[in-house]
Order: sequence, then C-alpha cells, then structure tokens
Amino acid sequence: MSLDAQKRLAAEYAAGLITDGMTVGLGSGTTAEMAVETLGLRFRDGIRFVGVPTSGRTAEIAQSFGIPLRRLDERSFLDIYVDGADEVDPQLNLVKGRGGALMREKLVASAARRFVVIVDETKRVERLGELAPIPVEVVTFGWPTTRHRLELLGLTCELRGGSETYTTSNGNYILDCHASGPIDLADEIVAQTIKLQTGVVDHGLFLRMADLVVVGTSAGTVEVLEAQRERSTTLS
Ligand code: A5P
Repeated sequence: MSLDAQKRLAAEYAAGLITDGMTVGLGSGTTAEMAVETLGLRFRDGIRFVGVPTSGRTAEIAQSFGIPLRRLDERSFLDIYVDGADEVDPQLNLVKGRGGALMREKLVASAARRFVVIVDETKRVERLGELAPIPVEVVTFGWPTTRHRLELLGLTCELRGGSETYTTSNGNYILDCHASGPIDLADEIVAQTIKLQTGVVDHGLFLRMADLVVVGTSAGTVEVLEAQRERSTTLS
C-alpha cells in the first residue's frame, strides 16, 4: 500500500472521531489535509462542527467545503485536534514542524482536550531525531547568536532555506537541529532548556502531548496507539 494510501487510512479513521457540535483543531501538512478533506465531505453530509485551522492552506481547504472557522482566541477549549507528525516514538512523543507551522500547532494542541496524531508507518522511530531534524523557531534578530546557544547545548543547527531563508507565518526563522552527542530529545528537561534560550520562540518537540496515534500501515490496516500516561499539562 502506498504512503498516500496509508496516510488516508489514518486520516479517515481520525475524521470518524468527530461528532456533531465539536470544535475541531485542523492540522497542517499532507496527512492533516486528507483529514480536513474527509471532514469536509462529512460536513457536506450534514454533520456540524467548527474548525480551528493551524495554517492558511488548511483554512482554505476547510472553507472550500463550507466548514465554519474560528480563531483560537475565540474558543479557549477544543474538543479534539487532528494533525500529522514527522516522527512518533514508542512513548508517543512527537517531532513536528517540517511544514513550519509548529508554533500554531503547539498552541492548538495545548488547547485541545484530545490530540489525535495521524501518520503512515514510516514515521515510527525508536528515538526522536532519527529521521528528521528538530525544527526550532527563532526570532530573526540575532539568529546566529541563538544558533550558537543551541549548539552549546549539543545541537547542530542549519538555517532552513539557506540563502532563500524560510520565514514562518509568525515572521520568524526555523533552525533545523540535529543532536550532535548523546542528548535525549525525548527528555523534558532538554526540551525545556531549548525553549528557555533567549531568541527561541518554540520547538517541534511535542512531548507527552499526543493522546492517540493512528498509524496507517503498508498492510492496509490501521493501528491505534493510546497514550499510557497522564497528558503533560505544561508546554515544553
Ligand atoms: C507541519 O508543520 C507539520 O508539523 C506536519 O504535521 C508534519 O510535518 C507532518 O506532515 P506530513 O503529514 O505532510 O508528513
């Protein structure tokens, strides 16, 4: 089964969790877009819910189906948030942000009662950082200084986009960082230390935040992994 078919399986499963009257966080990226399209079809069939999009592109897709949208500040709590991820470890810790929307995604995830992650099976890893760099969103002013600080913590970071620097929808840069030593990216203290550096806006480590991970597999099945712990109440 192709990767797209695996993503679609996970997306359709998650879209089936949405019921009438919910406020639904709508993620970004190719897998999340499939969920938004499936939700759009369910909306056309008569189920009524409100969406909170994490990116302009997601908002456009939702609007094309007539899904009413709200900003995060208009509703403090969401019933559910459905989004993809770049990596998922066995404890359901995540790396997100390859699409650059990590800050909004983390805000929406933290406001949701239930965070459902949808991935194809290639996203499962033993240790975070195995497949993908950790994106760190930084303010543009003095970004080389911020990078230096991150490197002192044991990360090796590259400015996303190089000479055609990528800018996030918040007007910031992204540093894509690899752990250069034995640093454990699933460690809450490590995540908090990255975030504490002056110049850092946020990072793509989503630790102890996912409630459910839905994996579309190459065998054409759906694996549903439920978090075996309390949800983190702090943002790290
Ligand atoms: C967007 O910023 C990301 O967090 C995406 O959710 C993540 O990169 C997964 O994207 P795909 O579903 O396109 O792989």
